[in-house]
Amino acid sequence: MELDEAIMKRTSVRYFLERPVPDEHIKMLIESAIRAPTASGLENWLFVVFRTEDAREKIYGLIAEGMVKYYQAVNLPEEKIEKLKRRMYEEGMYRAPVYIAVFIDREIRFLPGKEFDELEFIWSVESAAMAIQNLMLKAVELGLGTVYIGVTNFKGIDEKVRKLAGLDENHYLVGVIPVGYPRNKPKSKKRKKSLDNVIMWI
Ligand SMILES: Cc1cc2nc3c(=O)[nH]c(=O)nc-3n(C[C@H](O)[C@H](O)[C@H](O)COP(=O)(O)O)c2cc1C
Repeated sequence: MELDEAIMKRTSVRYFLERPVPDEHIKMLIESAIRAPTASGLENWLFVVFRTEDAREKIYGLIAEGMVKYYQAVNLPEEKIEKLKRRMYEEGMYRAPVYIAVFIDREIRFLPGKEFDELEFIWSVESAAMAIQNLMLKAVELGLGTVYIGVTNFKGIDEKVRKLAGLDENHYLVGVIPVGYPRNKPKSKKRKKSLDNVIMWI
């Protein structure tokens, strides 16, 4: 698949078939992920693959918790929240055969000293986000769908994801990525802003 096709076809997929994803394909996704640029060459990312039924059920519960919190945070009316819950609990929204939680290890450092704590943290998150994008584009090529879950980063939920992964508090959750074969043919979303709106020439 040409890169442009993968870029244009990638879109967030939230409904998946129950069909399992071969481990080989998961490895290919992560192999692509770790080709991303990584600030100071740190490679301080970690990809935790949740694939047992029990682990998936737990991570799914945390995604659902986060999504409800997100809807509440933007003051959506109760009927919208009920609709979201129906989509999740009855229609299987966000239920995937695999979830990949992406962490960075904050203990792995290049720049010494407190002065660089924040900058190096941001760089590490940025590097992991680039890795996630690689993973998502590779997924398109393999016929897989993905969506970036950020709501699991809400305070308290992130900690539960980290504990499920069995990691210590030096590990920061960057995102959770459900992966699976799309239930419906993915249709890319149009952008609200045109190129002219987001480009500035100097
Ligand atoms: C950092 C980040 C966090 C996101 N968090 C969520 C999320 O928690 N739940 C969700 O359904 N989608 C989430 N998304 C997906 C966006 O809603 C989606 O990318 C956006 O609507 C554009 O649609 P597209 O990906 O299909 O082009 C997130 C995307 C990013 C980049």
